[in-house]
Amino acid sequence: MTKLSVNINKIATLRNARGGNIPDVQKVAVDCEQFGAQGITVHPRPDERHIRYSDVELLRPLVTTEFNIEGYPSDSFIKLVTTVKPHQVTLVPDPPDAITSSEGWDTIKNRDFLMDIIGEFQRHGIRTSIFIGTEPELIEGAAKVGTNRVELYTEPYAIQYPDDPATAVKPFVEAATVARDAGLELNAGHDLNLDNLRYMKLNIPWLKEVSIGHALIADALYYGLQNTIQMYLRQLRD
Ligand code: PXP
Repeated sequence: MTKLSVNINKIATLRNARGGNIPDVQKVAVDCEQFGAQGITVHPRPDERHIRYSDVELLRPLVTTEFNIEGYPSDSFIKLVTTVKPHQVTLVPDPPDAITSSEGWDTIKNRDFLMDIIGEFQRHGIRTSIFIGTEPELIEGAAKVGTNRVELYTEPYAIQYPDDPATAVKPFVEAATVARDAGLELNAGHDLNLDNLRYMKLNIPWLKEVSIGHALIADALYYGLQNTIQMYLRQLRD
């Protein structure tokens, strides 16, 4: 089964646009779970422009499914994650001011850095995943740094999918196969949506988890959050 983890950063963006507490990020997280989501993802950034560090702390006791915290492993991020102890931490290499994650790790160049940090999270009992592109040598590098999982960065798939789904998915299937052969579990995320998700799932049935934010929250404007989560879950059926 592939789990759906809903990234609720956009909910915090909406709240922060006005000040106050509408929409209520904590309530949305709990409601997403009640509507069927099997995980909640947050991506706190140093400027706290969407999810705040305080949100992450408030969410921890409320999330009863899988809690996944993404981010660049700065000192403050490491401190937050090792205090909050989510089920999973997903490490991304983007600089603090990035609008959104736009590349995966170079697991060869950052080998020692990643090894140290991954070891630290694992000592706290937190499963690690690292965001990564489809280059086979970087996936083999991910296995060498000791991470439990990799999250395939799916934006290139999403861009090419409308024109040529088979070509778009090919490097991802190859990367997923390299990951599986190296003993890595597999997540995927970025720009997955109701059009492209099913095809990814059918081609990589062993995907453990997808984390989806932008498109899902945008779809919820039309279909409502409960319907939308059910629609995404349907795309992920075995
Ligand atoms: N995975 C990672 C590592 C991300 O940084 C993001 C965006 O915050 C996502 C998944 C979700 O991407 P999207 O919002 O396009 O669904």
